[in-house]
Amino acid sequence: MTREHWGSKLGFVLAAAGSAIGLGNIWKFPYVAGANGGAAFVLVYVLCVIVLGVPIMIAELVIGRHTESDPVGAFKLMFGRSGWVVIGYLGVVCGFLILSFYSVVGGWTIGYIVKSVSGGMSSLTNVETAKNAFAQFIHNPYEMIAYHFLFMAACAFIVIRGVKNGIEWWSKVLMPLLFILLLVLIVKGVSMKGGMAGVSFFLNPDFSKLTVDAVLSALGQSFFSLSLGMGAMITYGSYLSRKERILQSAMYIVLLDTLVAILAGLAIFPAVFAMEMAPDKGPGLVFHVIPAVFANMPYGQVFAVVFFGLLFIAALTSGISLLEVVVAWAGDERGWSRTKAVLILGGAIFAMGVPSALSFNVLEGNTVFFGKTFFDFIDALTSNYMLPIGGFFIAVALGWKYGLDKTIHELDPDTRIISLKELWAFTIKFVSPLLVALVFIVNFLGR
Ligand code: PHE
Repeated sequence: MTREHWGSKLGFVLAAAGSAIGLGNIWKFPYVAGANGGAAFVLVYVLCVIVLGVPIMIAELVIGRHTESDPVGAFKLMFGRSGWVVIGYLGVVCGFLILSFYSVVGGWTIGYIVKSVSGGMSSLTNVETAKNAFAQFIHNPYEMIAYHFLFMAACAFIVIRGVKNGIEWWSKVLMPLLFILLLVLIVKGVSMKGGMAGVSFFLNPDFSKLTVDAVLSALGQSFFSLSLGMGAMITYGSYLSRKERILQSAMYIVLLDTLVAILAGLAIFPAVFAMEMAPDKGPGLVFHVIPAVFANMPYGQVFAVVFFGLLFIAALTSGISLLEVVVAWAGDERGWSRTKAVLILGGAIFAMGVPSALSFNVLEGNTVFFGKTFFDFIDALTSNYMLPIGGFFIAVALGWKYGLDKTIHELDPDTRIISLKELWAFTIKFVSPLLVALVFIVNFLGR
């Protein structure tokens, strides 16, 4: 069987950007930036994206197209039966684990769409009532599990259709929609009374707030947001045709992801400031503030549906990339059919996510996992440890063990600025691994 390929360059870029752009950009980035001083954090984040994100994004796409394989198969092909294959397994397991809790939050977005459509949100006119409504919502174990199930079902529905007719088709429709919706929200937010204070918080750096911790979160956030370190981009790269240019595509993907994170900040902070809220409210930021903002606006119900629809779309195109990594492994390595892989592994991921869905109700306060709830534990384990470690080994595997001479031809053959290739080679060999290692060392010393 010949390997399925993306139908077009645009389709690939939008699918990969769809993977990168997700809850990480619209839900997580604003609150992490808010908690870490705003603009100064944004600056460090952008720096991490440029020196670390871009080279590792290129490396994953190179490995994917070079081997035309899932992450496990890719490392098998490059290194035979050696310990390096563990990196591939780490990636597949990581995809499995991330999707298990990601789907729970994805489910919240569905729940909030339902609430907005049914008009249940119009009474949440201040942040306090919106906060209580959110707490009540996540306190209901049945609702949490039902919405988690719905989100997984939506991912499964798309991934069963395959790469071109499923992932690519949906990304091509959903991603442009996302951009338009974000722009509408920015215009609305900026024109609100007091909204400009939010823009200035987000764009005027206050370096006194920039702690070591802030730098660390900026780094972790860049991996999570760009879908790096677990082979999602290896998998998407494996469906990339030989004639596409990797350097150029990688630039587009990173640019789009960063753009949406910035746009999301510009959409949310004006609203936060107009509501006279503190910008450092943590994970609840979006779910507390946005409903309250909309309840006070003419046509607020429409805007609420639009916003949570947007969050759902972003989460969905990321969720399918996480599921695809696991499904590609089962197909390539175990010979499973796509449908069988999606149903069995999607079901297993759903089951794995149940304790995460219950972390806010039945298992609330049950912090047996290193002082964290199951949800927080899986989140921290994958985002803060598995992704950076994966990224480190992907850089070392390609830069030092496999050898860049065997893969450099994967980069755009007609790139005129040859030095771009060399710049990447230097970065992936020296800068990326060293930086990640440094982060870990500082992290451990700081404990
Ligand atoms: N990048 C996605 C987001 O920002 C999350 C993700 C991480 C997706 C890792 C795939 C792999 O929401």
